[in-house]
Amino acid sequence: MTSRPVIDDLSSFWMPFTANRQFKAAPRLLESAKGMYYRSTDGREVLDGCAGLWCVNAGHGRDEIVAAITQQLSTMDFAPTFQMGHPLAFEAATKVAELMPQGLDRIFFTNSGSESVDTALKIALAYHRSRGEGQRTRLIGRERGYHGVGFGGISVGGIAPNRKTFSGALLPAVDHLPHTHNLEHNAFSKGQPAWGAHLAEDLERIVTLHDASTIAAVIVEPVAGSTGVLIPPQGYLQKLREICTKHGILLIFDEVITGFGRVGKATASEYFGVTPDLITMAKAINNAAIPMGAVAASRTIHDTIVNSGAQGAIELFHGYTYSAHPAAAAAAVATLDLYRREGLFERAASLAPTFEAAAHSLRDAKHVKDIRNLGMIAGVELEPRDGAPGARAYEAFVKCFEAGVLVRFTGDILAFSPPLIIDEEQIAHLFKTVGDVLATVQ
Ligand SMILES: Cc1ncc(COP(=O)(O)O)c(C=O)c1O
Repeated sequence: MTSRPVIDDLSSFWMPFTANRQFKAAPRLLESAKGMYYRSTDGREVLDGCAGLWCVNAGHGRDEIVAAITQQLSTMDFAPTFQMGHPLAFEAATKVAELMPQGLDRIFFTNSGSESVDTALKIALAYHRSRGEGQRTRLIGRERGYHGVGFGGISVGGIAPNRKTFSGALLPAVDHLPHTHNLEHNAFSKGQPAWGAHLAEDLERIVTLHDASTIAAVIVEPVAGSTGVLIPPQGYLQKLREICTKHGILLIFDEVITGFGRVGKATASEYFGVTPDLITMAKAINNAAIPMGAVAASRTIHDTIVNSGAQGAIELFHGYTYSAHPAAAAAAVATLDLYRREGLFERAASLAPTFEAAAHSLRDAKHVKDIRNLGMIAGVELEPRDGAPGARAYEAFVKCFEAGVLVRFTGDILAFSPPLIIDEEQIAHLFKTVGDVLATVQ
């Protein structure tokens, strides 16, 4: 493998969600990737414990996906999808629709999870307006929810640092459900915790406060990833569904990380047996090879909006230049075929018990306060260091990288979400390395 010289000027790239000064003083640079491994610029193999950013579900550098993109770019680099189309856009939409819960088979393409969230919120508002209930404008999110970084997403999101700088510009009509994280009741749960379904009933309080006639939609992640792996309590999502249905409120599941096999099914909706009205997705939709996201809408929502305007009039004033970009669509078609051919969703389901056992083997490791998991997702929460929240997990993350394992950290929580091609030996190595590292962390 040829190694390029390491660039020595890191100043121009303003890095996203990064402590820029800290990073640039001691950078961690990746230069190639294949299968389960990255290679760093200093020539080390690094086991990918988080599928990049929860997105490379089929593993890195998959030849079929690379070939599909390459061929598409040399055939047609770009085609507009505003009042024009190209066949792959329709093929990709059909393939995505086939994986969605029954009835959610109308697919709107975006370029990211954030755009998918803002798109879904706008579709919800458009739907109510098309039905003559345009006063339903309130959106309900949840504390500790992460829905990307658009103004819609940060408004319904529940993470203070993502909101406070922009607080004057957040959407005005938003409320939040309580989060479901509770270590007093649910520490070291395997799979769905038993306690907490009743927290969904807070939606009734919010409905009483604002009146259902003003509420458009509720958005939650079925499993919250970015705020540290929060698994929904047993019965919680079912209860949310019931209350939304009762009051004519749309339910949106943000499946940007849970879609495409992460929990052992095509969607978390399928896994939990709860069907929302809209699903947002991105990331693993095309194995993250080219930016792409999507919203799956129920046929009712789609038809209500699309049939409400005059013939010849645009029905939804929304879209992106790169919605269904040919290269992204080619990557999606190739990826979804590959998932099916290799049975990766089933593989995730069958590996999940091994993954669970390996994660929970850290129970007695130093600093560990909680471990939780579902499907191919696990979180290990550490006792924070006095007066320095997040510092301990950051140290663990850096030391793991130095020891050849890439994990994510958020606050003092380590998150694990490897590509679904990981094998049992690699799972054991991943958690063993983390245990060894934790023993050395201050
Ligand atoms: C649940 C959820 N929604 C939305 C997003 C935002 O996606 P993106 O970074 O592609 O905009 C993320 C990203 O991690 C996510 O986890």
